Amino acid sequence: MTPPILQVRNLTKKFGGLTANNDISFDVAPGEILSVIGPNGAGKSTLFKLISSFLRTTSGEVLFAGERVSNLAPHIVARKGIVRTFQETTIFKNMTVRESVIVAHHIRSKANLLGYFFRSANAHQDEQTFGRSADDILDFLGLAPLANEIACNLPQGHLRALGIAIGLACDPKVLLLDEPFAGMNHDETMQMVELVRGVRDRGVTVLLVEHDMAAVMRISDRIVVLNFGEKIAEGTPAEIQDNEQVIEAYLGREEDLVGLYTC
Ligand SMILES: Nc1ncnc2c1ncn2[C@@H]1O[C@H](COP(=O)(O)OP(=O)(O)OP(=O)(O)O)[C@@H](O)[C@H]1O
Ligand SMILES: [Mg+2]
Repeated sequence: MTPPILQVRNLTKKFGGLTANNDISFDVAPGEILSVIGPNGAGKSTLFKLISSFLRTTSGEVLFAGERVSNLAPHIVARKGIVRTFQETTIFKNMTVRESVIVAHHIRSKANLLGYFFRSANAHQDEQTFGRSADDILDFLGLAPLANEIACNLPQGHLRALGIAIGLACDPKVLLLDEPFAGMNHDETMQMVELVRGVRDRGVTVLLVEHDMAAVMRISDRIVVLNFGEKIAEGTPAEIQDNEQVIEAYLGREEDLVGLYTC
């Protein structure tokens, strides 16, 4: 069997008296799409912040390709290949779509970000070499016709695609997407599902947190379920749909339950 690309080992995070993640363990295989689901406040975003090292663990560890990465500086973890996308791409909103992707690459690479703005020779060189990759990423995400638009003028769906483009510019091995389908209608969600599959087909392992159960069941190879900070189930979409504890956790949350059974 291929060794896991990511191992979450007994991960615990406490905020004062509140245990947001309690002793969570699971492995992720290279090339997998793994979703983390659970009711509001279950600890999903906290788990992603621990994996990407935006939060320090209370105990436990995260291994990336066998190497411990928990509690390293987040930019070091990003350079190793664990990249988290942000819904709030505000810092890029006054730039064009293409500039945003290039700047994200600069932040990831050794080139100085200030150099980009002041058009230093190094930055110019980097833009020359990365420019084609940036265009390739924009093309892949259907953003090429919008390359010279100011990012803040983009509609929601394209803004989300830009978030993924920015993530891809960081050359991820593992991409963490927190609620990539939030606020999207059915057609937009299905387009995004295809985009995320395409990202995986480019060799990127994808972890996503999502409340849209229909999309989760459609896209995931495996699902991890959290409830009150605990992992209560792990399995294929079919296994999760039949899991008593999962159904119990979602009782009273009819919208999500509908999603659980409509696919
Ligand atoms: N920085 C923080 N300080 C204190 N408590 C926090 C912090 N971040 C999260 N929490 C708490 O930890 C718990 C888990 O939060 P988290 O954001 O991980 O949940 P979630 O599963 O992502 O929820 P949602 O589906 O609503 O996004 C919640 O009770 C939340 O209030
Ligand atoms: Mg969350």
